[in-house]
Amino acid sequence: MTGAGRARRVRVPGDKSLSHRALMFSALAEGTSELRNVQAGEDVRATARVLRALGCAVPQPTDDGGAIRVEGRGVRSLVAPPDVLECANSGTTARLMLGILAGQTFRSVLTGDASLQSRPMGRVMRPLAAMGVRFQELARPERLPLAIEGGALSGLEYTSPIASAQVKSAILLAGLSGEVDVSVREPVLSRDHTERMLASMGVPVSTDTHADGSVTVRLRHAGALRPISFDVPGDFSAAAYFLGFALLAGCGIIVEHVGLNPTRTGLLRVLERMGARVTQENVRVEAGEPVGDVRAEPSSLEGTSVSAAEIPSLLDEVPVLAVIAARAAGETTVRGAGELRVKESDRIAALVSNLRALGVAVEELTDGLVVRGADRPLRGHVQTYGDHRIAMAFGVLGAVPDNDITVDDTNVAAVSFPSFWRQLDALTGR
Ligand code: S3P
Repeated sequence: MTGAGRARRVRVPGDKSLSHRALMFSALAEGTSELRNVQAGEDVRATARVLRALGCAVPQPTDDGGAIRVEGRGVRSLVAPPDVLECANSGTTARLMLGILAGQTFRSVLTGDASLQSRPMGRVMRPLAAMGVRFQELARPERLPLAIEGGALSGLEYTSPIASAQVKSAILLAGLSGEVDVSVREPVLSRDHTERMLASMGVPVSTDTHADGSVTVRLRHAGALRPISFDVPGDFSAAAYFLGFALLAGCGIIVEHVGLNPTRTGLLRVLERMGARVTQENVRVEAGEPVGDVRAEPSSLEGTSVSAAEIPSLLDEVPVLAVIAARAAGETTVRGAGELRVKESDRIAALVSNLRALGVAVEELTDGLVVRGADRPLRGHVQTYGDHRIAMAFGVLGAVPDNDITVDDTNVAAVSFPSFWRQLDALTGR
């Protein structure tokens, strides 16, 4: 175990959201893009496979993050796929590809694994249908498998009831592929990687923030996308597990070269309120995205309240926040997080049942949870429900000295972080 003295330096795989987008958008560009550190988890591999099935020359990302070149085909020259497009566990693949397919004149069928087939697609189908896209539900209403046939689209001004980067991105991509103007208003700004990357490729995208905190993003269709050269920064959501470990195990850790886009780093603001010593260092902007190192130092933590407006900026970090809260003094309340019930698993239910199995006092809310933390050893067995983020969050809790926690399915971490357990073992010295 590292002592409280010198901080250990670690790196995490490339950002998942940026990796999906870098592959998709460079496939739509005109010219050759060069991408480095593209994540090689199962979700991003699903995106690469789907793009290849549509005729794009997209290599499979490799574990070493080496450079890959993507020959773009242009926004409307994808080819009809020979087979069903398999999105596996990846909601981002399915929803963003629906946007890209909206402007193509052929019919495609998308499907996914049992988890993805249970997740809502109506949130994307409704706005795209309003633009003129035709869908056929092949099993259950508003679920995969789905057939989509696009073509001549009309523009759209859409107000989304939820802050969802996948919904927003699908509509922006439909505008791009359908060559029409679109706008999306969302109640709170969700991650804005699509806007930043498309802007860096020459697409006119603008954002207006309204007095009530809601945000409108507009895209004007305008010719070809320029290819990019992009070094994908480390995934903040992956870094969050090691920051959590540092805080709980009382050691110093610096995660280097991580994406620090403020629409992703809400966890840092919440941890600071809990008394955590977490700092961003060497922050700079690379290809339109803030990037830097994050340091976590041993800290004593107290509970806090997380409000609905904060949720989009820490959506994927609620599992690791909940396990951190289990060891903080007092109560931590998370509200306005109902979206967590429709992620890779029902994350609220999964967190509540697993924390209870370890003897932690926890209350389930319809849109969140209340965790009553205690500084005592935690022992027991947890279930991942096939969800990578549940597995990794409890992996972190189990790696804390004196805790003894077994996880039913460790392999599921490979969806976003194939080297997670090896890197965690290297930190604990196990
Ligand atoms: C993602 C958006 C988020 C997030 C998911 C990745 C993206 O979902 O939970 O892991 O890359 O656009 P929302 O659509 O709920 O924002």
